[in-house]
Amino acid sequence: MPTLETTVNGLKFPNPFVIGSGPPSTNATIINKAFAAGWGGVVAKTTALTDTPVVNVQPRYGKLRSPSKDNIGFQNIELISDRPFEDWEDDFKRVKDAYPDRILIGSVMESFDKGRWQEVAARCLAAGCDALELNFSCPHGHPEKGMGAAMGQDPDRVKMVTQWVVDVADGKPVWSKMTPNITDITVPSAAALAGGAHGVSAINTILACIGINLKTLRPQPTVQGYSTYGGYSYLAVKPIALRMVAEIARGVPELTISGIGGVSTSVDAIEHILVGASTVQSCTGPMLQGFGMVEELIEGTLAFMEQHGFETLDDFRGASLPYFTTHSQLVELQAKKKALQAAKLANKDTEWGKGDVSEQTAALTSNE
Ligand SMILES: Cc1cc2nc3c(=O)[nH]c(=O)nc-3n(C[C@H](O)[C@H](O)[C@H](O)COP(=O)(O)O)c2cc1C
Repeated sequence: MPTLETTVNGLKFPNPFVIGSGPPSTNATIINKAFAAGWGGVVAKTTALTDTPVVNVQPRYGKLRSPSKDNIGFQNIELISDRPFEDWEDDFKRVKDAYPDRILIGSVMESFDKGRWQEVAARCLAAGCDALELNFSCPHGHPEKGMGAAMGQDPDRVKMVTQWVVDVADGKPVWSKMTPNITDITVPSAAALAGGAHGVSAINTILACIGINLKTLRPQPTVQGYSTYGGYSYLAVKPIALRMVAEIARGVPELTISGIGGVSTSVDAIEHILVGASTVQSCTGPMLQGFGMVEELIEGTLAFMEQHGFETLDDFRGASLPYFTTHSQLVELQAKKKALQAAKLANKDTEWGKGDVSEQTAALTSNE
């Protein structure tokens, strides 16, 4: 029987399916519901020290629908948690008391200040978090104040802040969460590694405009007639997430990867693992489909493993990576295939002349 149990950076996950930081992890009650449903881990909604101003707007979400009205993309302009940090400390304790065998990861974001990062990180761990995720990646609101993606787009800051946190983490795993709003995601990933990160989480949302209201001509979601670019997620971002997870896995193999982006079924999760993810997070999935979606993630992944004879996730993690190459190599491979076909053509005298004569001759020559 295959198993989904996996140990990542010393953390023992009963399965690799993790709730991504966001609305499905905003307090102890909802986190406990996720664990009751069977999720292996939860990354809590990003928190900061209590004096960080967080004022959300309404509405703050938008959906992209296909012509057949299926929900394929989602956008938010939500900020990090608006709850006092002290409440989070109580919540972390409550969750770990109720589910000691599950993995609870605290997500933190702060301004570029060593004391603040170290305080928020150390207090999360003291309250019971098993690991930390550093939010270098929310693309809206916070970057206006130099936080989130603004920090994640600056490799020097990614390295320095990661180092500050690692210094107080007492050996507990630290994952830096990457923004996709950057040209080469391996650059900040390598910076996180240089700062001592054990892993990266990728990706956060993609900066986007979900649509325009054709009656009012206003971009959406519209707040008092205006909007701001927001973070795009769900099915539509999966192809970009898979590309970026693969790039990190190939470019910075020393890091573990928590793959995120567009996971709504076991197929999506398996694809993330095939391009190098050790765990797989989903945020918009549970928001739109409910926590029960984890049952299909578990059953579908186990069925896939049985079909291929894989016993553990290690047996297929990154298995698709060797098949990415350059376009010019694709052209070469195609030319070789054509030459082989030409060789086949010349096996009978009647086939001569169907291909290029010199190519057919070359294909039949052993010392060419
Ligand atoms: C409404 C909403 C709020 C989010 N809030 C946070 C957050 O506080 N911190 C964070 O690191 N990521 C946040 N995210 C990003 C998700 O954790 C995840 O990286 C992203 O949505 C892509 O995954 P998905 O397609 O499974 O949603 C949020 C996403 C959504 C949709």
